[in-house]
Amino acid sequence: MNNHNLPLQILGGITATEFLTHYWHKKPLLIKNAIPNFKGLLSPEELAGLACEEEVQSRIVEEIKGKWHATHGPFDEDDFANLPEKPDPKHRWTLLVQSVNHHLPEGAELLGQFNFIPHARLDDLMVSYAPDGGGVGPHFDSYDVFLLQGQGKRLWRISEQTDLSLVEGAPLRILKNFDTAQEWLVEAGDLLYLPPHLAHWGIAVSDGNTDCMTYSIGFRAPKVQELATEFLGFMQDTLNKEGNALPGIYLDADLTLQAHPAEISSSMISKVTNILKTIQWSEQEVAAFLGTYLSEPKADVIFNPNKKMSLPKFNENLMRYGISLDLKSQMLFTDHCFYLNGESMSVSAKWTPLLKTLADYRKIAVEDIAQFGEIESSLIAQLHDWYIAGYLYFNKT
Ligand code: SIN
Ligand code: CO
Repeated sequence: MNNHNLPLQILGGITATEFLTHYWHKKPLLIKNAIPNFKGLLSPEELAGLACEEEVQSRIVEEIKGKWHATHGPFDEDDFANLPEKPDPKHRWTLLVQSVNHHLPEGAELLGQFNFIPHARLDDLMVSYAPDGGGVGPHFDSYDVFLLQGQGKRLWRISEQTDLSLVEGAPLRILKNFDTAQEWLVEAGDLLYLPPHLAHWGIAVSDGNTDCMTYSIGFRAPKVQELATEFLGFMQDTLNKEGNALPGIYLDADLTLQAHPAEISSSMISKVTNILKTIQWSEQEVAAFLGTYLSEPKADVIFNPNKKMSLPKFNENLMRYGISLDLKSQMLFTDHCFYLNGESMSVSAKWTPLLKTLADYRKIAVEDIAQFGEIESSLIAQLHDWYIAGYLYFNKT
């Protein structure tokens, strides 16, 4: 459990409550040495290796003689061989790899250090590599982001400009004009928090032979339009479920003769308006929508199902090893209802502490399970289904 009243090293000695009150979604904060001795989680070669994998989202962004180019992965060795080895001011480039937390346990652990922000807001851990001068140019994001410096250095420029006009025709969002208001040269372990829509520009600075790697911990803020359209889709599914259908048919015993048979009368319009107004939703339905929607995996996420296992064997292994969420799994909860990768399950009050531990910390240890005695069969059956689907794994010994 996070204690919001403890000063946190990762926040430069302020408490999570102070951070939320004064900075979150409001203004930038630079924290020098937020993670002491942080050297990064993977080497440039390992990052390039990830970018060559089929299921990994990656991009190479190049600035060639002032013109921007973006190429999407998966890449192969030749793609990297074609990039300049030595820093070239006429050809700058960077490699960006999304959702590194889905592929690297250390990435998921790093995200755990940001548990003072709800998981419902989390997007992913993106890692970038750039030789001297490389970067994605001046831009703004719609996200809250913590930019943690790994190896090498980066010069961050920020601007509170309101002119957010973009270079036309560029394959990525580059600000047409950028006025630097403040700049910082960050090094390994430094952390820069930026609220959404704040213009920024990170330029890689090589430190001797060590090129720049930056770890972006991004928190998504869904657009209101996206929430509304997704919710209406959810409500459509809800209304189509057995027992939820709206009763009755359209009634017009009061029909009067119309001058134009093709006209939709004002009487019909107002009757249907009143019918549609009877569609109501409760906070419970909104909670169920948020749980399924926000835990839904992104379209490119594929789980590897586990080998079939009998229920008794599953139960035995659960008691022996405990269980963890797969790196790609997203688990959220509201009250007694738990959501894993877009699927929901209600449990009795007795089991909520155990499942809350799994959702909050992505792991339940054998000792956590032992406190509860025998697990009820419906819960075992659900965990077994999720295990077979590849959403859960037994803890390694
Ligand atoms: C990066 O190039 O790693 C930083 C991305 C950003 O500015 O959001
Ligand atoms: Co950015």
